[in-house]
Amino acid sequence: MYICICRAIRDREVDAAVRAGARRPVDVFRACGKSPQCGSCAGDMRERIAETSAREQAAQPAMLAAD
Ligand code: FES
Repeated sequence: MYICICRAIRDREVDAAVRAGARRPVDVFRACGKSPQCGSCAGDMRERIAETSAREQAAQPAMLAAD
């Protein structure tokens, strides 16, 4: 699913950027080597960043416990 239509950034690219440390839409654009155009995707991108960040944080204790 596309999060940003103007720059053809998909949800999985946002997720990968978050796993690499992106925490704001501008970080995602930078990670994808693109720049924002209309900006209408900012809300959806923030939501996806928050969801992915929460999933990543929830997964960390389980990963640490496995060691
Ligand atoms: S939809 Fe992302 S910049 Fe236009």
